Amino acid sequence: MTQMRLDRFLAEEGVGTRSEVKKLVRSGRVRVNGTEVRQPEYKIDPEKDSIEAEGRAIGQTGFLYLMMNKPGGVLSATRDGRTQTVINLVQESWANKLFPAGRLDKDTEGFVLLTNDGMLAHRLLSPRRHVSKTYFAIVSGIVTENDVRLFREGLDIGEKRKTLPAQLVRLTVDGDFLEEKINRQDSRSEKQPPQPDSPLLVSRAQMQEFCMRGIALSDYARCGEGECCVAVAVTEGKFHQIKRMFEAVGREVRFLKRIAIGTVCLDRTLESGQYRPLTEEELGMLRNVEGSAEAPDDNSEEQKELCSGKEENIDVL
Ligand code: URA
Repeated sequence: MTQMRLDRFLAEEGVGTRSEVKKLVRSGRVRVNGTEVRQPEYKIDPEKDSIEAEGRAIGQTGFLYLMMNKPGGVLSATRDGRTQTVINLVQESWANKLFPAGRLDKDTEGFVLLTNDGMLAHRLLSPRRHVSKTYFAIVSGIVTENDVRLFREGLDIGEKRKTLPAQLVRLTVDGDFLEEKINRQDSRSEKQPPQPDSPLLVSRAQMQEFCMRGIALSDYARCGEGECCVAVAVTEGKFHQIKRMFEAVGREVRFLKRIAIGTVCLDRTLESGQYRPLTEEELGMLRNVEGSAEAPDDNSEEQKELCSGKEENIDVL
């Protein structure tokens, strides 16, 4: 392992003179593995650590972006003494430069972005930006129109504030939107279909695309008797958020899979545990992602964990 001082590394990489880079580091504009470091004497391993100065990757590797279909039972973390992590599944020699941008529960499956780009991860997870995350879920019982309304209006899940408006869509096991099926029947019987009364987080067309492209037949096949399939989009990342929201309406989440981050959809051809680089188009979509309107910053769990740098939380910026 070759360790060297951070300021020396930056100066040798041509970022500035030794005194310029010291100032840069002290001003908080340098990140090591996604975490702000303000000590010029901080020791790094140039072969392993990813260094950013003012949002620009310094050194050989550059920025890396992988879309992974996380399997259940694997931690969204960089390292863990006992349990396999998403990073352990990456075969490439530079795997240790990556971290997961955000956390999914151990039993949650689906889209995890693995990157060394701390700024992008921060933007996608910032509670201020409200970037939507869309999930496929199998839940107990029959989700009703009233549940859809409660999700839209916000739920008490035991936090200081109600949850922000979430978009809940009931799906039929053949992947259709239940509401649309009913609407089609209603329009045949000349009954007016209900109009949405508030702006949608994710357009109907986009939600339909996420469901079509992100949910595999084998996911629908998990839906058993007395359960139903839904898609749900949220713009915050509180601890166990989706599970707690369903709990608040008296239901239990039996299976959960993230199918989209912002407008980028999970590639359903990725088998469980597989990954691939993001395409240029997908990366552009994440870079240009626009969240919904500003709302109070209550420091979501995801963000707190991301910024804490605690090894057990692992997401390190
Ligand atoms: N909500 C949950 O309950 N779990 C997750 O993993 C993600 C969102």
